[in-house]
Amino acid sequence: MLDTATPRARTLAARHYTSVQSLEADRELMLRSWQLAGHETQLAEAGQFITLSLFDQNIFLVRDREGEVRAFYNVCPHRGHQLVEGSGKKAVLTCPYHAWTFGLDGNLRGMPKRDGTDAPARAEVCLSHVRVESLAGFLFVNLDDNAPSLGEFAPGLEAQMLERIPELPDLLIEGDSAYGHTYTCKSNWKVMLDNYLECHHCGPAHHSFDDMMNIAENRFELYQNYTYQHAPTARKTKNEAFRLDLEHDVLDGQFWFLFPNTIFGQFPGARGFYASRFDPVRPDLTERRSLSLTTPEPTDPDMAARSAERAEWSTNIVSAEDRELCENVQRGMHQRGFKQGWYVTDPDAHDISEHAMRHFHDIYLAAMDEDA
Ligand code: FES
Ligand SMILES: [Fe+2]
Repeated sequence: MLDTATPRARTLAARHYTSVQSLEADRELMLRSWQLAGHETQLAEAGQFITLSLFDQNIFLVRDREGEVRAFYNVCPHRGHQLVEGSGKKAVLTCPYHAWTFGLDGNLRGMPKRDGTDAPARAEVCLSHVRVESLAGFLFVNLDDNAPSLGEFAPGLEAQMLERIPELPDLLIEGDSAYGHTYTCKSNWKVMLDNYLECHHCGPAHHSFDDMMNIAENRFELYQNYTYQHAPTARKTKNEAFRLDLEHDVLDGQFWFLFPNTIFGQFPGARGFYASRFDPVRPDLTERRSLSLTTPEPTDPDMAARSAERAEWSTNIVSAEDRELCENVQRGMHQRGFKQGWYVTDPDAHDISEHAMRHFHDIYLAAMDEDA
């Protein structure tokens, strides 16, 4: 496990959470990092495609006829019109503007009334590629052609996820929307991740979660560009969050963070898994986009009811609590009397220790080439 040799005592300076310059730098960082784009099961068949936007960059992913997932900028090389919208399935990609058609491999296939014109030869024109990789079934894109591969960037992450969640390869995307649900919070994306990366606040601020979990046994492990959290429940069927079925449900939460803005996890309760990407909209506004996976078949006849109870609790209770905390902290970042916070870390008390959050900040500062 990694931690800095001489750990810093103070958190990121407030300006990292509030300034427009920081927002711009963060977006550049994300555009040269691996960004969550979807899940393999959304592209089960040749011709299926999904679209995503990373700020003003529009991208789509498509499964080609050879079974490979390819990613392209969602722009027609003829005159720049957007090629595809939303998600769906197509045999060829036809631009809505002048009807140039492209194969699923991105190569120009044809254009209407081409004969006798000086239009470029087919071999000269193709869609602009974006790098795409899969990590435990999740698809990531990277707009930087020189960035390290995901395996080099976060060594061991995929193997760890598959080892600790053996059913992960069998899970399927839940729902049919292109990119699941979106959660908006009026705080900086780093405030939200800081909150995700410590359980110091779990006791004081999440009464029902605290009742369901065994927070004292919480563990955070640090790795190269990622963290892992093991969060066991107290194994109580009845608790103040939602019912747990001790025979069928997940009883140990397991959560990962992949730098800079992806989280994955298996929450206690009905079996499944989720992944989210945090998109900074403004210094004070973040959209968290999530995909969830579920089992191919219910584990038991009551699974759907328990899953719905958890979803309701998650939306109305714990996410609402976290949103209020993060929005409150964001206002704090603007106070002239607040320049920088303090970490609390303790290698023996991961229920309060903020070492995973410090690890995030260490990676962030190194990426930004800054000290504080
Ligand atoms: S812009 Fe796409 S065919 Fe003209
Ligand atoms: Fe929280």
